[in-house]
Amino acid sequence: MNAQVPIPQVPIRAEAPAPVGLLAELTHRCPLRCPYCSNPLELDRRSGELDTATWQRVLTEAAGLGVLHVHLSGGEPTARNDIVEITKTCADLGLYSNLITSGVGGALAKLQPLYDAGLDHVQLSVQGVDARNAEKIGGLKNAQPQKMEFAAKVVELGLPLTLNAVIHRGNIHEVEGFIELAVRLGAKRLEVAHTQYYGWAYVNRAALMPDKAQVDASIRIVEAARERLKGQLVIDLVVPDYYAKYPKACAGGWGRKLMNVTPQGKVLPCHAAETIPGLEFWYVTDHSLAEIWRDAPAFTAYRGTDWMQEPCRSCDRRERDWGGCRCQALALAGDAAATDPACSLSPLHAKVRALAVEEAAETPPDYVYRTIGSNIRSPLKEDA
Ligand code: SF4
Ligand code: FES
Repeated sequence: MNAQVPIPQVPIRAEAPAPVGLLAELTHRCPLRCPYCSNPLELDRRSGELDTATWQRVLTEAAGLGVLHVHLSGGEPTARNDIVEITKTCADLGLYSNLITSGVGGALAKLQPLYDAGLDHVQLSVQGVDARNAEKIGGLKNAQPQKMEFAAKVVELGLPLTLNAVIHRGNIHEVEGFIELAVRLGAKRLEVAHTQYYGWAYVNRAALMPDKAQVDASIRIVEAARERLKGQLVIDLVVPDYYAKYPKACAGGWGRKLMNVTPQGKVLPCHAAETIPGLEFWYVTDHSLAEIWRDAPAFTAYRGTDWMQEPCRSCDRRERDWGGCRCQALALAGDAAATDPACSLSPLHAKVRALAVEEAAETPPDYVYRTIGSNIRSPLKEDA
């Protein structure tokens, strides 16, 4: 049993309900280079990362704010030497900890100490089912056997395992295979998450965009498997925005449920918020998490519905999807306050859908791999 740390309670204004989750991007360092990575195009370097004591203070403030879940993420969070210490702090504070990992490099060696420190859950990314395809997508040779060994160890320890499969035209033919893999590995949950096109995925959109028939087939496969595997495997399905009727409530609504802390301590309402020009972000090194949640200009900018334009402003779904994704609205409409063009009610929707159809019909270009310091096309790295 871990010692309990006293948690200061922070009053929250009615218009800013307490956040449920904190995404702790502990580092942008990562052995993989997935072409759909949601991290920013400009990655934080190791020299600028927050130290252990600051992360522990941030976690204490998060618990005081009412946060329940902490997602220990990156990059690859196990690349941090203090990942076990940080996980133990979560356990001491009563925060549910979820390790979001690639399972390669040093991840396996840290699994037992993480378990001993009180880790609650593991989310393992899988790029493909066929090893050759998976390693081409992740940009790292010998990654697949490491992932399989890692998954087996997670299950052996009795930790709940979720597999996360980001789906695109390079692996959409493997959806059935992902389901079989999840069952074989003993995962409790599988996320079949069609790529969201911002960050690196926006750069690689033409290489990643599947066609509508492929998307429809993948949805049918998931629906059939959900029936077949009831009680054994939960399958979450995130459908691709460009082919959807209505958008998702991105991040659960801007400034409503989540806080995202970058490796350098900048606090974002969603992982792609830095793509929106003119937003003012505050740092955990200058402000408490409670101040940031309540008052940081980036958090108040699109909270609620006052900022909305038509058709969102008078739409009866406005408090269900909160107008969709601000970052996607900026990328596609050139205005972060516009209705997300993924919405069928947006005047730009037909154009965006046509773009997706056109890109999916073309021969896919090579991936532009994610690399700290540059975004060049390059061959596979030789090893983890
Ligand atoms: Fe959602 Fe706006 Fe579309 Fe209505 S118009 S469904 S609020 S994105
Ligand atoms: Fe920023 Fe959707 S990714 S609001």
